[in-house]
Amino acid sequence: MDKTLLGGLTPRTFLRDYWQKKPLLIRGALPGFTGLIPRDELLALARDEDVESRFIEHDGRNWRLERGPLPASLLRRPKTRPWTVLVQGLNMLRPEADALMRRFSFIPYARLDDVMVSYATDGGGVGPHFDSYDVFLLQGSGRRRWQISEQTDLALVDGAPLRILKNFRPEQEWVLEPGDMLYLPPKCAHNGIAEGECTTYSIGFRTPSMQELVTGFLDHLRDEVCVSGMYADPDLTLQADPAQLPGAMVDKVEALLKTLTWSRKDVEQFLGRYLSEPKPHVFFDAPDDALSAARFAQRAVKHGVRLDGRTLLLRSGAHFWINGEPVDVTPGARAVLRELASTRALPAVPADGDTMNLLFEWYCDGFLHLGNRT
Ligand code: SIN
Ligand code: CO
Repeated sequence: MDKTLLGGLTPRTFLRDYWQKKPLLIRGALPGFTGLIPRDELLALARDEDVESRFIEHDGRNWRLERGPLPASLLRRPKTRPWTVLVQGLNMLRPEADALMRRFSFIPYARLDDVMVSYATDGGGVGPHFDSYDVFLLQGSGRRRWQISEQTDLALVDGAPLRILKNFRPEQEWVLEPGDMLYLPPKCAHNGIAEGECTTYSIGFRTPSMQELVTGFLDHLRDEVCVSGMYADPDLTLQADPAQLPGAMVDKVEALLKTLTWSRKDVEQFLGRYLSEPKPHVFFDAPDDALSAARFAQRAVKHGVRLDGRTLLLRSGAHFWINGEPVDVTPGARAVLRELASTRALPAVPADGDTMNLLFEWYCDGFLHLGNRT
């Protein structure tokens, strides 16, 4: 990992002292970085119906939010007015953005979310707010003033179309230049104001709520659980009011539910599936002219393979999950899959039958591509 990314801190020190704890300003985190895509390309993405985008404008008093796909007329707004366009999931659309996200691999993939890019005109921004996840705000082209506050008053303006803090009281501020980066832990209040036109890249993290985790696990359990027998009440006694739910019935069902148990393995299976599940709007494109299995194998041996930018491949020990599904891995394929999961590309694939069959299946699904370089 480049030494500059965390301002000379080792990932270990960063995790110990800053991660989820306190903000960190890193001057020259990526020296020479001026952004990944030109403004016009970014605005073109915001017009695409398959891309998640937002337009935000304010007149000093009121905020306006439009969700994409954005009409061209909106994107031709004069640059003399403060507005901004945000494009989510750039890592799935551009390999360079995926590569940028992978620079943050000192955090497990299970916690990485996406790269968002914003373009703003002078004075543009999304207003003072807080996020419930960690974020690295990397300055692309131009300059942006960041104001932050570790205030505990997180009350929001009522009725605004986006989450704006009612009483933002900046405690520190800096102007970020291209390649500078600001790390913010969850709930740290912040406000970014463009100084002239600028672009900012947000490397965001995935933070499921406890509620999401529990309901997700219960859903998982529903598909796994298998209980035999029928409800029976040979001991039924006469009751005065037939509308009354029999107390004995409640007792019996309570006793049944108390027999439900799960193991760490169930939890591991749930997390593997859940965290590798693509977001709802993500679809994979099967190759147009798919090669035969034999041709694929020939090329994979020579040129290697790489995962599609949208693919999520996670593992826990010898268990693997790809895009929401567990993978049936033979012991011989494990080492290769481990490398693929970790580095997301293989320079050359060994000509082993089991591994090749698996990779061919994923190639046909559009989960991976031939060639280890994009
Ligand atoms: C932006 O890039 O304008 C917004 C990023 C953020 O505040 O999280
Ligand atoms: Co934010």
